[in-house]
Amino acid sequence: MLEVKNMVKTFFKGTINEKTALQGIELRLEEGDFCTVIGGNGAGKSTLLNSIAGVFPVDEGSITINDIDVTKMPEYKRAKYIGRVFQDPMVGTAGNMQIEENLILAMRRGKNLGLKWAFKDSEQAFFKERLALLGLGLEDRLSARMAYYLVVNANLLHY
Ligand SMILES: Nc1ncnc2c1ncn2[C@@H]1O[C@H](COP(=O)(O)OP(=O)(O)OP(=O)(O)O)[C@@H](O)[C@H]1O
Ligand SMILES: [Mg+2]
Repeated sequence: MLEVKNMVKTFFKGTINEKTALQGIELRLEEGDFCTVIGGNGAGKSTLLNSIAGVFPVDEGSITINDIDVTKMPEYKRAKYIGRVFQDPMVGTAGNMQIEENLILAMRRGKNLGLKWAFKDSEQAFFKERLALLGLGLEDRLSARMAYYLVVNANLLHY
């Protein structure tokens, strides 16, 4: 469960550029909830997500994930409890690695990492099975490099 209480975030406080992007935000999401945040340009949507992810500290309020208070936890530690997917797929992924390597990295997030062979047959089968559900043939492209796949896709969209 994610719970945000009375969250406030002001940029450039005390300067002529002062901007309060979030003022007293309350949010409570249970596991499995699907939530859409709607708002015009500059409404504070990205600031809300960045605050929850820990990109910058908030000025007031609290953020708890499964009753763990992460309000003051740095982003890299908070990543153990919360993940995000960016609008731009090149952000938050490793372009030179294969798509399935990226998926494995995401799956290992927050777990103890050691030096061992990353791929397990069972995990590759799992990714294939999940992608096959979309019926788009994507399961055959998992070994492509992340960046290559995106370039190909962009070209397909253009022509
Ligand atoms: N890192 C930052 N430094 C200074 N001001 C910021 C920063 N991030 C956001 N802002 C300001 O906070 C306000 C909210 O911006 P935010 O990017 O959260 O809006 P948004 O709802 O995501 O808008 P968009 O629909 O354009 O993505 C805006 O006035 C913006 O200029
Ligand atoms: Mg935004």
